[in-house]
Amino acid sequence: MYPIIRNRRLRTSPAMRNLVREVSITPHDFIVPLFVVEGQNVKEEIASMPGYFRYSLDLLSKEVKELWNMNLQAVLLFVKVPDSLKDNQGTEALNDDGLMQRAIKTVKDATPDMLVMTDVALDPYSSYGHDGIVQGGLILNDETNEVLAQMSISHATAGADVVAPSDMMDGRILSIREALEDEGFLHTGIMSYSAKYASNLYGPFRDALDSAPGFGDKKTYQMDPANRFEAIRETQMDIDEGADIVMVKPGLAYLDIVREIRNEVDVPIAVYQVSGEYAMVKAAAAQGWIDHDGVMMEQLIAIKRAGANMIASYFAKDVVRLLS
Ligand code: PBG
Repeated sequence: MYPIIRNRRLRTSPAMRNLVREVSITPHDFIVPLFVVEGQNVKEEIASMPGYFRYSLDLLSKEVKELWNMNLQAVLLFVKVPDSLKDNQGTEALNDDGLMQRAIKTVKDATPDMLVMTDVALDPYSSYGHDGIVQGGLILNDETNEVLAQMSISHATAGADVVAPSDMMDGRILSIREALEDEGFLHTGIMSYSAKYASNLYGPFRDALDSAPGFGDKKTYQMDPANRFEAIRETQMDIDEGADIVMVKPGLAYLDIVREIRNEVDVPIAVYQVSGEYAMVKAAAAQGWIDHDGVMMEQLIAIKRAGANMIASYFAKDVVRLLS
């Protein structure tokens, strides 16, 4: 072999490296998560997510126009619901004039071609901060699915293109898909959080929405970080139940799972690079301990190289600014 083959020949210059590169990042890879609050002229920075904000609807409208002009064409909406509207059933989630429903319309009015994805789960609406209805300290599965299906209909009616159930109840994709078909929403997509792990990396997100569980944890519905085969089964079931896009979450620590699922299924795979991953990079960079842009790009490249077709990431705007 050597010296007939010298691997360094393909690394000799930027032009050569650009030519042989296998993976690259473009604005079209991103889904931009957005946090929405009630009020006027509100743009609040989230303490544990430096450079990331909650927006009231008027400023959401400005923000999505800016995203569209940056070639960022998909958003994933989350709402911060006032405590006074939270209950065990997630009643407010079904309010056709609720914050989520108004946010969907706001984005569609401001940027009609923006792909609007919506979080479907009870936790922001739940007085217990859980993703399902609570009874006797347990999270009810099938009763929760009925609410998730109605919630999806409400989002689709408001104009959502894709609903994204993030709750990890069993059978929720089938409930949602049947409800969408019954109501005539034949082209509403489902992006399922299929392999969502019970991770410690969601802390800053729960600060952003004030949605931390009031008791216990989410380990009876989100997956054990120790499990691999289960991720494949979860994903396969969601596809069989009607998911159009599947997801692995979090990102960096779960890239073995992404690759494994890539090898097993033929639908698009999303990876959610979560709030704790964002916070760690921002914090270390602020200390001057790592290079922000270098680490950001390396982690995103790694996620795509593992097999992701799209990435939900709080870094989307930082990346587009860097690339242009
Ligand atoms: C809630 C939901 C969570 C995230 C997305 N949807 C948090 C949780 O499950 O507690 C986490 C996203 C992030 O950390 O960036 N269903």
